[in-house]
Amino acid sequence: MTFDEPIFLKALNKEVLKTPPIWYMRQAGRYMPEYREVRKKFKNFLEMCKHPEVCCELALQPLHSFNLDAAILFSDILTIPDAFGLDVQFIENKGPVFRNPISEPKDIHMLDPFDPENLDYVYKAVTNIKNAIPKHVPLIGFCGSPWTLAAYSIEGKSSKEFHKTLSFLKTNESDVHSLLLKYTDACFLYLRKQVQYGADVIQIFDSWANLLSENDLKKFSFDYITSLISSLKLDPVTKNIPIILFSRDPNCNTQTLIETSADCISLYWSMNNFDINFSFNKVSIQGNLDPKILLESDEIIKRETYKILERFKEYPGYIFNLGHGLTPDIDPDKVKYLTNIVREY
Ligand code: CP3
Repeated sequence: MTFDEPIFLKALNKEVLKTPPIWYMRQAGRYMPEYREVRKKFKNFLEMCKHPEVCCELALQPLHSFNLDAAILFSDILTIPDAFGLDVQFIENKGPVFRNPISEPKDIHMLDPFDPENLDYVYKAVTNIKNAIPKHVPLIGFCGSPWTLAAYSIEGKSSKEFHKTLSFLKTNESDVHSLLLKYTDACFLYLRKQVQYGADVIQIFDSWANLLSENDLKKFSFDYITSLISSLKLDPVTKNIPIILFSRDPNCNTQTLIETSADCISLYWSMNNFDINFSFNKVSIQGNLDPKILLESDEIIKRETYKILERFKEYPGYIFNLGHGLTPDIDPDKVKYLTNIVREY
């Protein structure tokens, strides 16, 4: 019997496919009634993430509803700052709030060393999900980029502008580098464990890349991502695991993104300046329908989706996805419609 490689892995290996593999960022989440049903049982979101059997159930929900080509670990990027003792809470309608944010440089230097065992609940969820999904569906493990984790840790909460973080960065540059180094090492150990416990692919979420100017982006985000990817590519456990980089609207050109050595670039929805002639045969591409399009009529969804499919038709290693996560206001029927039109294209 020959084992046919899953199409998601084929795409990550830069193969041209007739139909692209499909999965969605935040495919498990509040837009699904069955998610909200489970979520009701927990006061605190992170508390829910600490139950591996619940994470498994939630990761399976979108696979059951939409028959997708990849599963993603159900967890959050803020597990690492929480494990460092910053005590992350999720407050209804407010998002994450840190009880012990980084307020001054000494808070960085006093952080205990990261112990990957503190996140055992995540690795258990990885194994549970891996055992529960069909063989042809790869499992994506993930982490936040060191910069994105640092931004939340300093800001202490979600924000649009991250003023506190940016001003802290100006006055305490070398201390921020210490924090970024700690987070880079933690991300490596964390992802290595996720792979040991069953993750087939890794995605790094650089969700706050857009806060940084071109120079600062390199210095505070991409240099650390590059170092993280390099450690993963050197380690015997993780060296063959494809790595996807999602960077939100970064102030850089295509070459800079490729130089991180990621295998696949996940395009933010507004990133239409990405040069696919330059990236051809160098990296796979994932993306990038604007999630807001899913609030429109079927006709508009179809028109916008076809534009993207047309653009990437001949691209070696194209994965259909959104340009950011599914939001709670999206109707699951629209997600079903979208999935069907991509498969039938
Ligand atoms: O299917 C999946 O993708 C589920 C796994 C997942 C979650 N968060 C679950 C979640 C993943 C991969 C993430 C990544 C994540 N978390 C990112 C990177 C992606 C991005 O959006 O840029 C970021 C920045 C976070 C941090 C985070 N988590 C915030 C700011 C919030 C609150 C705001 C919001 O969108 O709700 C969360 C909460 C969160 N993470 C929820 C889920 C399903 C909703 C929590 C709830 O049910 O109350």
